[in-house]
Amino acid sequence: MDFSKFFSVILLACCLCMTCNNNAVVKASHRIYPEFQSFQAKKVMKLHRTGFHFQPPRNWINDPNAPMFFNGIYHLFYQYNPKGAVWGNIVWAHSVSTDMINWEALDPAIYPTKPFDINGCWSGSATILPGNKPVILYTGVDTQNRQVQNYAIPANYSDPYLREWVKPDNNPLVVPGVGMNATAFRDPTTAWQGKDGQWRILVGSKGMHVGSKGKHAGIAFLYRSKDFVNWVQARYPLHSSAHTGMWECPDFFPVSLNGKAGLDTSLVGKNMKHVMKVSLDLTRYDYYTVGTYFPRKDRYVPDNTSDDGWNGLRYDYGNYYASKSFFDAGKDRRILWGWANESDTAQNDNDKGWAGILTIPRMVWLDSNRKQLVQWPIKELETLRGKKVQISNQQVRKGEHIEVKGITAAQADVEVTFLLPSLDNAEKFDPSWVNAQDLCGLKGSKVEGGVGPFGLLTLSSKHLEEYTPVFFRVFKAPNKHVVLMCSDARSSSLRKSGLYKPSFAGFVDVDLADGKLSLRSLIDHSVVGSFGAGGKTCITSRVYPKLAVFNNAHLYAFNNGTGTVTIESLNAWSMKNAQL
Ligand code: FRU
Repeated sequence: MDFSKFFSVILLACCLCMTCNNNAVVKASHRIYPEFQSFQAKKVMKLHRTGFHFQPPRNWINDPNAPMFFNGIYHLFYQYNPKGAVWGNIVWAHSVSTDMINWEALDPAIYPTKPFDINGCWSGSATILPGNKPVILYTGVDTQNRQVQNYAIPANYSDPYLREWVKPDNNPLVVPGVGMNATAFRDPTTAWQGKDGQWRILVGSKGMHVGSKGKHAGIAFLYRSKDFVNWVQARYPLHSSAHTGMWECPDFFPVSLNGKAGLDTSLVGKNMKHVMKVSLDLTRYDYYTVGTYFPRKDRYVPDNTSDDGWNGLRYDYGNYYASKSFFDAGKDRRILWGWANESDTAQNDNDKGWAGILTIPRMVWLDSNRKQLVQWPIKELETLRGKKVQISNQQVRKGEHIEVKGITAAQADVEVTFLLPSLDNAEKFDPSWVNAQDLCGLKGSKVEGGVGPFGLLTLSSKHLEEYTPVFFRVFKAPNKHVVLMCSDARSSSLRKSGLYKPSFAGFVDVDLADGKLSLRSLIDHSVVGSFGAGGKTCITSRVYPKLAVFNNAHLYAFNNGTGTVTIESLNAWSMKNAQL
């Protein structure tokens, strides 16, 4: 992050966000807190720590870096502050796993030692080169505070854990070119190889440039190389979009037109589309478009069904940022990792001795409508499922809430399918409701509708002093129904000050012809990660209940709409701890 401009950027973002969305507050993440940066809390607070999400034993974590599958082992690196619970002193921490759920921590793989990364080892990606040779590309902040792109390779390819990484002396590989903003030039992607044998990578940036779209454009610069060492900037960026600001952590990959199987990043051809994701620093959300990659011109064009800006599709409509995907050749799937920052003050993060989690890895594929992605927690998560309870064919009338008893409601996995007997009474959709989060803020989980609000009350205290509702509302527009999905943190905690409690929401593009809507929520003490309609819309909330903790947390199904809904089936499991 360009810290000299940090405050003006945040101010601009706040103003923009306040005009477009009175419910949104930009939650700054890499703010510098000199007083906390190297402050080691005496104790790590257990309260609100997660049981099955990835998090380091203490201190600050941000972006997932260079996830990969190599010789039967999953590797995960991440931006980590070894000295404190706020951003700073960043190194590449390293963990390995055989199932992406249980992890073994290794020593940090990359940390500042050389002129080309002495002021920072920032985000990057892995590529597995022919001959089964992994290589990492990452952003180094050099002696002049320029962001440059470096590489690191395993010291010993036969070490199954690839514990040690070396940074060859011919680094940096790529430096900011003439006219580029040297403090906005970072986060190299996984490379893909064209039919001409050349490798290609993207580097995120912003500003005015040949082929960019104006002063405030986001840019994905394209570089090519024959040997992975000498890189040449392409005349035009792969893609750029006006008024989007800095593009952090770009990701670019193919998706199959048919089915859920993932594709290797270098594949091009007829039966696929491409996805481009960018993390927008100004809004702190991950947006993507579905489109076409033209390999001969090396340009990417989003489909006209994908908005290419702040109103675009998001991987997650909640607290989710700086994600990265990789192709898991072991199981032929594309996996997505993302970061969910705290929604608490730096002072509290510091006091509790830890900050940040990664979301459960998700499998991603193209929806059959070819307009959006679908995401689902990886199957391996289910190995942590313990005690199970079930409800079926149970009506939930207006104003009712039904307790799901017998599981650990603070650490659970819940899948529910609701049956909507009739959509006739759905409220009329006002076309001015373009912003889902505003609409959720307006209607909440209590304002009675025709069809909904209905869903789950997660992390609830016994008498509902606290609860995080995850729910749907169905509206009637002239030719279709509009489905809103919310994860509303406003009543999540009795704590009044310091917490960010947004009513996160997204629309769900789902066909209600069968009268069914499904929801899955992964509840883990201070995080609720929800998947609507089989993973078409995802929302992650970070919440900090005071009462609804450990065994005092409850789970309910509820309906505050006039029309009765039926729980066709509900399965809920207590979740065991992952080994971390
Ligand atoms: C995204 C980001 C990246 C950068 C890294 C620094 O959260 O700002 O752009 O490389 O974090 O930790």
